[in-house]
Parts: sequence; C-alpha cells; structure tokens
Amino acid sequence: MDKIRITGGQQLNGDIEISGAKNAALPLMVAAILTDQPLVLNRVPELQDVLSLNELLEELGVSAKYDGVAKKLTLHGAKITSTEAPYEFVRKMRASILVLGPLVARMGVAKVSLPGGCAIGTRPVDLHIEGLKRLGAEIELNEGYILAKAPNGLVGAPIHFTKVSVGATENLMMAAALAKGTTVLTNAAREPEIVDLGECLIKMGAEIEGLGTDRITIHGKQYLRGTEHSVIADRIEAGTFAVAAAMTGGKVTLKHCEMQHLEYLTQPFHKAGVDILSSGTDVTVERKRDRLRGFDIMTEPYPGFPTDLQAQMMSMLTIAEGAGMITETIFENRFMHVPELARMGADITVHGSSALVRGVAKLKGAPVMATDLRASVSLILAGLVAEGQTSVSRIYHLDRGYEDLVGKLTKVGAKLERMHDKEEAA
Ligand code: UD1
Repeated sequence: MDKIRITGGQQLNGDIEISGAKNAALPLMVAAILTDQPLVLNRVPELQDVLSLNELLEELGVSAKYDGVAKKLTLHGAKITSTEAPYEFVRKMRASILVLGPLVARMGVAKVSLPGGCAIGTRPVDLHIEGLKRLGAEIELNEGYILAKAPNGLVGAPIHFTKVSVGATENLMMAAALAKGTTVLTNAAREPEIVDLGECLIKMGAEIEGLGTDRITIHGKQYLRGTEHSVIADRIEAGTFAVAAAMTGGKVTLKHCEMQHLEYLTQPFHKAGVDILSSGTDVTVERKRDRLRGFDIMTEPYPGFPTDLQAQMMSMLTIAEGAGMITETIFENRFMHVPELARMGADITVHGSSALVRGVAKLKGAPVMATDLRASVSLILAGLVAEGQTSVSRIYHLDRGYEDLVGKLTKVGAKLERMHDKEEAA
C-alpha cells in the first residue's frame, strides 16, 4: 500500500489551483439517471470516488466517458438496464445511496444496498427512506437491501426533515424533479453543493425554488433533458490548503474558488492571526504572526463550520499558542485523527463530542495511519510543520477526495513524496 512521506518545516508560497468539488460532482453525476439524454459535466475532479461512482452508473446502464485532461465527464443513460446498486459498490462509497431516488423516479423501482458500517459513526439513511415514502414509494428492507417501488410514479408531497441532511436533501430533490406535482422540502440542507445540483436540474428542465434556503420547492416534470454544467470549486479542498498556508507560514493564493463558500474560516483565522482575503475568484491566505493563536470551532450544517474541515482545524490548533476547543455536532466518532496526532506530540483531550487542544511549540515527525478522508489530510498538514519526517500510511483514503495533493503541495514548496511499498523496502 502506498504511503506519503513528508519532511516538515517548509514554508509554502505561491498559487494552488482548486479542483471541482467532489461533493458537488457526485450528486451531479447521479442526476444523469434522470434523463435519457447526455449530461456533460465539466471540472470533474479525477478522484477515486468519481471513478467508483462511474462504475456504479455503468452497472445501471449509464455510459460514462471521462476526459482526464479536460476534466470533462459525459454521462448518457439512454436506457437504464439495471435498477440494482449492489453492496460491493455502496460499501466503497456511501454517496451511492443517492441513486435510490432518481432510479425510483425514472424506473418505478430500485434496489439499493444499505451502506452498512462506516468509519465515522453509524450514519443511517432513514431520512432518505422516509422522504421517498412521503412521495408514495413502497419501501421494504430485505437482506441488507432497500427495495423501493412506485409503479405508477412518485407523487409530490411536503417533506419535513427531522434532521438536516445533505444527502437526503439531494436524493429527494432529484426524485421530486420527476414526480407528479409539487414537493416542498423543509429543514432542507443549504450547502453550496445542493445549490449546484439544483441549478443543473433547472437546466435539465426542472422547476425549483428556494435553493440555498431551508425550504426548497420542486414542481415535478414528466421529462428532464440533458445539459452541460460546470462543477463548483471544492471548498473543502480550498479550506485544507488555507490551513496548510496558515500552519506553515508564507503566502498562498487559492485560484478559482469562492470566498462566499469559505466565510466560516474568517473568524477562526482572524483569531489565529491569519489573513484570508479574496479578490475575484482568488483567495489569499497569509499568516501575520510568528505563532498561531488558539480559537474555538463547532461544526454545524452550512453556513456553519463544516465537519469536513474539522480535522484540519485540529491540526492547526496543535501548534497554536494557548488552547482551543473543537466541538463536533454532525458525526459521532469523528476524532479518529486524535490518537495519530498525539503520536506526533499533540496535546489533545477528548470529552464526548468536544476536544480540547493545547498547542505545543513543535510537533515531531512519526509514522501515522490515515483512518478516513479528512482525518488523513490532517496528518499530512501536521507533517508539513513537524520536525523531521512523517510517513502517512493508508493513503487510499486521500485518493478518494484530493486530486493530486502531492503535486499541488510540492508546487508551493512542500517536501513530500508518494512512495510505493517496493520503493520503501528498497
Ligand atoms: C455529506 C458529505 C460529507 C459531509 C456531510 C456533512 C457528500 C458526498 N458527502 O454526507 O462529506 O461530511 O454531508 O456535511 O456530499 N443522517 C441521519 N439519517 C439520514 C441521513 C443522515 O440521521 O437518513 C445524519 C447523519 O448520520 C449525520 C447527519 O445526518 O449525523 C448529516 O449527514 P448528511 O448531511 O446526510 O451527510 P452525507 O450526505 O452522508
């Protein structure tokens, strides 16, 4: 298995190009199920999760052609040949559950594996299921599969989510776009990735109001057409590089991203003594003090602080002056990076869903292990400022969500390399 070896202590300076957002690309790809015409997506990042979802879509009969140079993905579901998403696909990637709504909406039937255990808590799919029931689907759970049927089509209805869920909002928005009549989603998620999906659905002919608010109204259509759409910038990738710049010092400009999707960084960065300023689609990050200062954050649904940047902010706090508190309210078990950061000398105490981080003057390089996507990148960030060498193993987690991480960091002055097991043995 591959590892990344980092030699800490380099300041980062220069420009980093931000990729298209993984979490926007995945639901947009699933939207291809809703039409028999081609859906062309631009700025699709070359990531393991994208490849895995392509495989699942192909299994369903949607052809997928990816041009890695142009980052253009053409999906075409002229005919859906299977309505089953098997466990082997869903297990690899939870977002596969998103095919449930679109399949029932177009085909009147779907069989989708339950996602099963997940490293960051139980992560149920009850909101997806309850929502589809409200649209008239009959649902059975059998042998680890969700069986959904709506032979006469889905019918629009009011759906109130008891908890804010990104995936459930996306699933139901897509299903409702092909349902008869009007659906009103309340307590809906407001993430920019949902707005992006909604805007693509509108180009496909859907009628949707209230995107970006917690009340989304969808007037269903009998038919949706193909279109071409560009994926928004990855705000989590941008946030990760912003933290890298803040931790290492130097001045880094993130190219082609949206400051309005990064507002939650302004306050903690200000407290930490880091400037984050935008000009057009550039966001420049520069540390203004020798040493960062402590800050507190609590994860919340958008526009609150994203759980997908929690581990990175914890890395930042490990070297700050003073202490900081991180409270995770979205997922359970999302502090798996804590013992690994502790191996590098971090001082962190976890009490339930909160972690108190007392900054240390220096982290020390160590062999550490990635446990999930965002946890693994927090270890890379720690390695960038640690004394000596850090090697991060199990980096397949990183390949799921960061496009060319090593290349992008190297370009701004970091010292890190990807090693195959054989090279390491040599
Ligand atoms: C998406 C993102 C993920 C991010 C998360 C929260 C994608 C592909 N993934 O995941 O990177 O960390 O949003 O911002 O976009 N829940 C239920 N029942 C459900 C569904 C969710 O209880 O039916 C709970 C979850 O366990 C969790 C919370 O709701 O505690 C939020 O989860 P959700 O927003 O659904 O996350 P995902 O869409 O899976």
